[in-house]
Amino acid sequence: MELNNIFVNALKKKSPDELIAVSKKSDLKKTLNVMDLIVLGIGAVVGTGIFTIIGTAIQGGPESAGAGPAIIISMVLAAIACVFSALCYSEIAAMIPVAGSAYTYTYATMGEFMAWMVGWILMLEYAIGNITVACAWTGYFVQFLKGFKHILPDFIVYFPMWLRNDYRFMLSYCDKYGLDPHTQMPYLFDKIPFAVNLPAMAIVLLLTILLIRGVKESTRFASIMVGVNMCMIISFILLGAFYVKPENWTPFAPNGFEGVFMGAFLIFFAYIGFDAISTTAEETENPQRDLPIAILGTLIICTILYVCVALVLTGNVPLGQIDTQAPIAHAMRVIEKDWFAGLISIGALCALTSVLLIYQLGTTRILFAMSRDRFLPKSLRQIHKKFKTPHVLTWISGIVVIVCALFMDLNISAELCNFGTFTSFIIICIAVLILRKTDPDRPRPFKVPFSPVFPILGIVTCGGLMVYSMKFLSTSALYFPLWLLMGFLIYATYGYKQKRLEEKQKLQRIAKPSKVEV
Ligand code: ALA
Repeated sequence: MELNNIFVNALKKKSPDELIAVSKKSDLKKTLNVMDLIVLGIGAVVGTGIFTIIGTAIQGGPESAGAGPAIIISMVLAAIACVFSALCYSEIAAMIPVAGSAYTYTYATMGEFMAWMVGWILMLEYAIGNITVACAWTGYFVQFLKGFKHILPDFIVYFPMWLRNDYRFMLSYCDKYGLDPHTQMPYLFDKIPFAVNLPAMAIVLLLTILLIRGVKESTRFASIMVGVNMCMIISFILLGAFYVKPENWTPFAPNGFEGVFMGAFLIFFAYIGFDAISTTAEETENPQRDLPIAILGTLIICTILYVCVALVLTGNVPLGQIDTQAPIAHAMRVIEKDWFAGLISIGALCALTSVLLIYQLGTTRILFAMSRDRFLPKSLRQIHKKFKTPHVLTWISGIVVIVCALFMDLNISAELCNFGTFTSFIIICIAVLILRKTDPDRPRPFKVPFSPVFPILGIVTCGGLMVYSMKFLSTSALYFPLWLLMGFLIYATYGYKQKRLEEKQKLQRIAKPSKVEV
């Protein structure tokens, strides 16, 4: 009986009507139009994936084979996996235009427990994804400093490696080049290697302070960043196109299918972010029409840009020489356009900064929604008296990234982020199928075409890439289930009890006025 009750409670849903009613009471201003949403989408999507991870996806990493120039096929594969999920996101976002993204939609379709788990998984996408972006930011920051080597003193341009990498990277670097780690970084008490990614930590700290000062200022800042980075990417394509050597495109797929699929798994990171558009549903003028246009529009624009960038990059730099830390800037050095490499670094820094900003905003909003639902303590959603922003949650999300940047590297955090995002995409596809059955009459301003085939294809493509990559990625494939287990334990020991307490208090509130009436 008790067990039965637990299941019934864990499956309790929030009705879409209840969600919409709550959102109508929301104080958020409806100011965003379709162009704003596309800018926001591009700001969240274009970043580390295309500026940094593309290098590893082409060359291969410690646990994955590289795609080579066939990265363009990997990109199309990753885009296809995203399109099905994007269509599903559009259907639900237009039908239930409420903030909170996948977390809220899961609450409406699969109940309390799954909603908590999705919120927990979204933390992988947003917070752990930010660690990747912050580490990549350092790579381009170093390139940017090198662009000023004639003006700046050497101790700034070539500041020590142990101040711009985590200790694990330093150890593997020393191992690779046969160096004694004791000569490359300090050791605490002569035993503990000490290395910190200082620029990554500094930029996250700065953005945390900016976000606390106000969301409006932050989004305005993000649109400027998007403008600069788009100019740089388009210039890279136009300039690099003149230096393409078609012979660099052979061998086209040096590692066959394995390279292409692993490339698709890694480059998937470059597409993550379009779902952030749906988190702004409550602030959109005409969500039913604008959300699907913006989500699909962002995906199409980014796919075209990415394929062009990949063609130019692999056409400019011979395979084997593509850099894995700042490949786009490095490509410009290869074609002897050093001055442009400096500009590319500025564009990349802007792109990465906007992703960091939007993701930290996303983390805070989802945590806020979860705390409003009692999954997290109420004290965490305190609003700053002067700036009116959730400052405690903003600090928490910033500090988590800063601390994790001490020991997590770019590739592992990107892989974990991909696992989390694939899972949330699969859940959204399942949610569409469930809602079509349980709530067939609710108006759907946008419908996924060919349902149930498209949502099923979304599940198969995302699930397929995820399971395939797990064969090779032993480290992140171990961390991911551990993350899920941790989420389950927090729900079992805290979230579940809080939800029951909330129900009890609701019942007491309903009971009180009736006593007064008597
Ligand atoms: N798509 C985002 C990036 O590439 C996460 O940085």
